[in-house]
Amino acid sequence: MAFYLYLVVLLATSAPLATSGFNFSNIAVKEHIDEPPQSWKNLGLAPPDHILHLRIALPQSDFAALERHLYQVSDPAHERYGAHLTREEVEALVKPKRESVNLVEEWLTMHGVDIHRDVTRSPAGDWLNLALPVGLVEIMLHTTYHVWTHDDGSSLVRTTEYSLPAHLNDHIQLIQPTTMFSRTRRFRASFIWDDEGSANIVADVIGLESNFSSTHTGIDPGCRTRITVSCLKQIYNAVGYNTTRDNGNQIAVTGYLEEFANKQDLHSFFAQQRSDAIDSSFKEILINGGLNSQNLSAAGPEASLDVQFAFGLTFPTPATFYSTGGRAPFKPDLNVPTDMNEPYLDWLDYVLSHPNVPQTISTSYGDEEQTVPKSYALRVCQGYAQLGARGVSLLFGSGDGGVGGVDPNPTQLCTTNDGRNATRFIANFPASCPFVTAVGATQGFAPEVATTRFGSGGGFSDYFQRPAYADEAVASFFEQFPKDTYAGLFNPEGAPIPDVSAQGDLYLIFLAGVQRLIGGASAATPTFASIISMLNDARINAGKPPLGWLNPMLYSKGFEGLNDILVGNNPGCGTQGFNCTRGWDPITGLGTPDFAKLKTIVMGL
Ligand SMILES: *[C@@H]1O[C@H](CO)[C@@H](O)[C@H](O)[C@H]1NC(C)=O
Ligand SMILES: *[C@@H]1O[C@H](CO)[C@@H](O)[C@H](O)[C@H]1NC(C)=O
Ligand SMILES: *[C@@H]1O[C@H](CO)[C@@H](O)[C@H](O)[C@H]1NC(C)=O
Ligand SMILES: *[C@@H]1O[C@H](CO)[C@@H](O)[C@H](O)[C@H]1NC(C)=O
Ligand SMILES: *[C@@H]1O[C@H](CO)[C@@H](O)[C@H](O)[C@H]1NC(C)=O
Repeated sequence: MAFYLYLVVLLATSAPLATSGFNFSNIAVKEHIDEPPQSWKNLGLAPPDHILHLRIALPQSDFAALERHLYQVSDPAHERYGAHLTREEVEALVKPKRESVNLVEEWLTMHGVDIHRDVTRSPAGDWLNLALPVGLVEIMLHTTYHVWTHDDGSSLVRTTEYSLPAHLNDHIQLIQPTTMFSRTRRFRASFIWDDEGSANIVADVIGLESNFSSTHTGIDPGCRTRITVSCLKQIYNAVGYNTTRDNGNQIAVTGYLEEFANKQDLHSFFAQQRSDAIDSSFKEILINGGLNSQNLSAAGPEASLDVQFAFGLTFPTPATFYSTGGRAPFKPDLNVPTDMNEPYLDWLDYVLSHPNVPQTISTSYGDEEQTVPKSYALRVCQGYAQLGARGVSLLFGSGDGGVGGVDPNPTQLCTTNDGRNATRFIANFPASCPFVTAVGATQGFAPEVATTRFGSGGGFSDYFQRPAYADEAVASFFEQFPKDTYAGLFNPEGAPIPDVSAQGDLYLIFLAGVQRLIGGASAATPTFASIISMLNDARINAGKPPLGWLNPMLYSKGFEGLNDILVGNNPGCGTQGFNCTRGWDPITGLGTPDFAKLKTIVMGL
C-alpha cells in the first residue's frame, strides 16, 4: 500500500519531468472489448494494492524482414532452405526502435517507475515487464480494474478498455494484463480414467473399430485397445530406427499450470514399454515459479503423458521438460489467488534468451482463440516465428472440442464474445498461429480414422489469414466439402487447423503409480513431435540442418510421407463439424506420419 501511495503522490508532481514535449493529457483508447467471454462474472472493484505483472509490447522494428527470412529458410524450394538465423540475427530484426524505447521509458519515469531497477526486458528488448499496483496502473492506463470470477472458480483482475497518451500509440503495441480473459488450459477433458467407467468407453471405441479391422496389417492387434511406444512405432513405420545420444539433437516438452513430470512414474513406464531407457532421465527447467515437488500423488496427467511418450519414443535423444509457473514470483496475493500471468511469454523470454534451444518442442495447451486478445495472439505468434527462424519446430495440440473449441462437448453453444452472441465455430490458439504446426487426433489403423470419443480440434482461424503454402490444400478441401455448408460459422480465408495428426486415444501411461488410459490432442502432439525429432536426428547425423518451421515443407513435399485420413468428422457447436476428405481436411490435416517415407523425403532436401 505504501508503495502505491508514494507513486500517486509522485505522479501529482511529476508532469514537469516530461521532456519530449508531448501533451500527456491527450489520450486515446488503445484496446476495448465489448464484454468478457462467457462464464466470467464481475465481483467488483479490484483492490488498489493488488500487484499486476505488466507486459508492454513495443513494435518490432522489422518483423516483415524476419518473416521473409523465415519463409526462405523453411521452404524446400528455396536456395536458402535450412540456413537458419542465429539468436543475434533474429534479435536485430525484432528489437524495437530507439524512439519507441525512449518515449515509453519517459512515460514510465513520469509515473515514478525506475526503469533500471523496476523493468526487465525480453532478450530483444521488445517486451518490457514490470510489477505495479492496480491503483497506479489505473492512472497510467486511464481505466478501472475489476475482479472477475469464472464458473470454474478461478479469478482474474482485468478491465474491458484501456487508453494511452495518443503520442504513444505507434510505440506501444499492447499492454497486458488488461483485456485478456484467456487462460492457458491443458486439453484435459479427454482423459479416460482406467477405472470401472472407462471399461465401457474402451469397449465403445473397440466396437467401432471392429467394423474396419479385418485387414491384416502386421501390427500387434493389442494396439487397438492400448497404445504403447511399440504400437506407435509400428503404426508409423518407425520400427528399428535408433536415435543418437550425442549428435546435438534434443527434444523438449512444455508444461504449464503447475504440472510436473514424476520420475517414479516415468521409471515404471520405461520398465513396461522402453526397458533400455530405464536408467535415463531428463533435464527439468523451472521457469517463473514452475513446480517440481516430485510428490507422486500430485503428478500431472498432461506432463506424465507428454514426457512418457515423447521421451519413450525418442530415447536416447537428450530430453528437456520446461515447467512454466503461472503465478508471479514477487507477491503471493491473497485477494486474487489464481490471477494468471502470461505463461507463453514467460516461456518465450526464457527460450529466446538461450543460444541452443531444443530443435523440437511439443505443447499440449491452448485456449479458445476469441478469448485471447488479437493483439496478444499476433505478438505471441511472432515470438514463435522467431524460434522457427532459428530452426526450431513447434508442435501444438489442436484441441479436443471438434469445431467447438478446447473441450469435448458437441452440444456446446458456440457464441462470439463481440457483443453479438452470434453462433460461430471456435478455433484454438496457439494452434491457429501459422508459425507452429497444429496436431489433430486419430484412432485405430487399417483404416486409421479421426477420433470418435472426442472431436479432433479443427477449422479456420478468425485472427490469422491463410498462408499461401496452404492455398492448394484448402482449395482441394472445399472442392469436396462445399464452402457454404456452414456459411457464416467460420472464416474460409483463415489459417487452416490442424496441419497434421497422430494417434490420440487409449494411450497407456503411469500416473501417480497407477496405469491409466488417456487420450486427446494432448497425446497426438508429443507423438508427432517425436517423429519430427527422429527425422531431425537423421538429418543432423548426415550433417544437415534441422527441419525448423515445418509447414511450408509439409504442404509442398511432406504430404507424400503422410497417411491421408479419409474417415471421420469433428462434431461441435451442435453440428456434425467438417468431414475428412482426400488430402488436407480441418480434422486430421494432411494426415499422420509414415516415418520411413518422411525420412526419405527429408534426407533428400
Ligand atoms: C493537452 O490536451 C488536453 C486534452 O486534449 C487539452 O485540454 C489541453 O489544453 C492540452 N494542453 C496543452 C498545453 O496543449
Ligand atoms: C537398434 O537398436 C537395437 C537394440 O540395441 C538393435 O537390435 C538394432 O539392430 C538397432 N537397429 C539399427 C538399424 O541399428
Ligand atoms: C502430495 O499431493 C497430495 C495430492 O495433491 C496432497 O494431498 C499431499 O498433501 C501432498 N504431499 C506433500 C508432502 O506435499
Ligand atoms: C449475450 O449473452 C449474454 C449471456 O447469455 C447476455 O448477458 C447478453 O445480454 C447477450 N447479449 C446480446 C447482445 O444478446
Ligand atoms: C459429411 O459426412 C456425412 C456422413 O457421411 C454426410 O451425411 C454429409 O453429407 C457430409 N457432408 C458434406 C458437406 O459432404
